[in-house]
Amino acid sequence: MKPKNCLIFGASGQIGRNLIRSLTKNNIKVTALTRNIHQKGYILKTQANPGFLEIVEGSIFDYELIKKLLKNTDLCVNLVGILFEKGKNTFNNIHVEFPKMISKLASIYKIEKLIHLSALGIESAEDSIYAQSKLKGEKEIFNNFDKTVIVRPSIVYSVDDNFTTQLMTLLGILPIFPIYYNGKTKFSPIHCADLTNSITKIITDDIRENIIEFAGPEEMSFRDILEKLLSLIDKKRLLLPMPISIARVTAHFFELLPKPLITNDQLRLLKYDNILSGKYKNNNDFNFNCSSRFEDEVNKYSYMWKREGEYSKKEVS
Ligand SMILES: NC(=O)c1ccc[n+]([C@@H]2O[C@H](COP(=O)([O-])OP(=O)(O)OC[C@H]3O[C@@H](n4cnc5c(N)ncnc54)[C@H](OP(=O)(O)O)[C@@H]3O)[C@@H](O)[C@H]2O)c1
Repeated sequence: MKPKNCLIFGASGQIGRNLIRSLTKNNIKVTALTRNIHQKGYILKTQANPGFLEIVEGSIFDYELIKKLLKNTDLCVNLVGILFEKGKNTFNNIHVEFPKMISKLASIYKIEKLIHLSALGIESAEDSIYAQSKLKGEKEIFNNFDKTVIVRPSIVYSVDDNFTTQLMTLLGILPIFPIYYNGKTKFSPIHCADLTNSITKIITDDIRENIIEFAGPEEMSFRDILEKLLSLIDKKRLLLPMPISIARVTAHFFELLPKPLITNDQLRLLKYDNILSGKYKNNNDFNFNCSSRFEDEVNKYSYMWKREGEYSKKEVS
C-alpha cells in the first residue's frame, strides 16, 4: 500500500522525535517543519529510515508555506507548544492563532485527520494564561475542522524530556530544593513512547474521538516524583515547602532569564492536579498500552546523574 504522508509541526521536540520513529515504523511518511534546519536537522534526520522523512525549514507564521504543506498531506499532527511567552511567541499566537490557521486549511484541503496536542487539567486551571490559551485553541479547531482528535496528556517523560532530566540536574546541584503547594499536586506521568505509539494507533486504527486524555499507570504527587528521582540518583536533599508569596517573587526574577526555570503562570498552573478528569475518554478506553512505570523507565537513564555517572551502572553478566 502507498504510504500516507503525515505533516508534523513541532517535530524536533521530545514528543515529535519519538512520533517520527513510531509513524515511520508503521509505514507512514513524515514531513517535519523546523524553524532551524542547521540546529535541528541532525536530530531529525536520524529518526527515520531513508525515504520516510522530509525536513522543511520555515516558520509556523509563514502562511504560504503552511498552506502548501497542508495541501500536500494526508494527515497532520500539531505539537507546537510553549510554556512561557517571549516576543512574538505569545500563548495566543502559538496556542490559538496557529491551531486556528491549520484547522481552517485542514478543512479547505480536506485532509483525513488532524491530531492536536493539548494538555490535561486545562479546564480547571482558570487562572493560568497557558491553560486558557490551550483551551481556546481547542475550541477554534473544533469550530473549523471536525476530523480532529485532541490529545490531552499528563506530564510526558523520557530521556529526551525537559522534566526528569532538568529536575535530576537541579537536585544534583541544590542542597535544598524548594517545593510549591507542599508538593501535593498530583500527576500521572506518561512515558513518551507510550504516548507516541498511541498517537500512531489513532491514525492506523482511524480512531474518531474529539478529546482523549492520556495518563500513565501511576498517580504521583510532585513530592513523590522528587523523592523517586532522588532515590534513583542516590542523593539526599531537603525538600523545603516554599510559601507561595516568596515563590511569586522568585518567579518574577526567573522570568527575566531567556529560559525561565519557572514563571508566575506556571506557578498558578501547578496548583491544579494533572490527572484524568473522568469527563472524557482516556487511553484505557482504547486499550492503548501506556503501562510503562515511572521508576523503571527513568532508571534506564538516571545513572548519568549519579556521582559516578556511567561507572555507577550495574554490570550486566
Ligand atoms: N512534554 C510534556 O510534558 C507535555 C505535556 C502536555 C502537553 N504537551 C504538549 O505537547 C506538545 C509537544 O510537546 P513537547 O514536549 O514535544 O514540546 P517541545 O519539546 O517544546 O517541542 C515543541 C517544538 O515546537 C517547535 N516550534 C515551532 N515553532 C515554534 C515556536 N514559535 N515556538 C516554540 N516552538 C516552536 C519547536 O521545533 P523547532 O525548533 O524545530 O521549530 C519545538 O521543538 C506541546 O503542544 C505541549 O504543550 C507536552
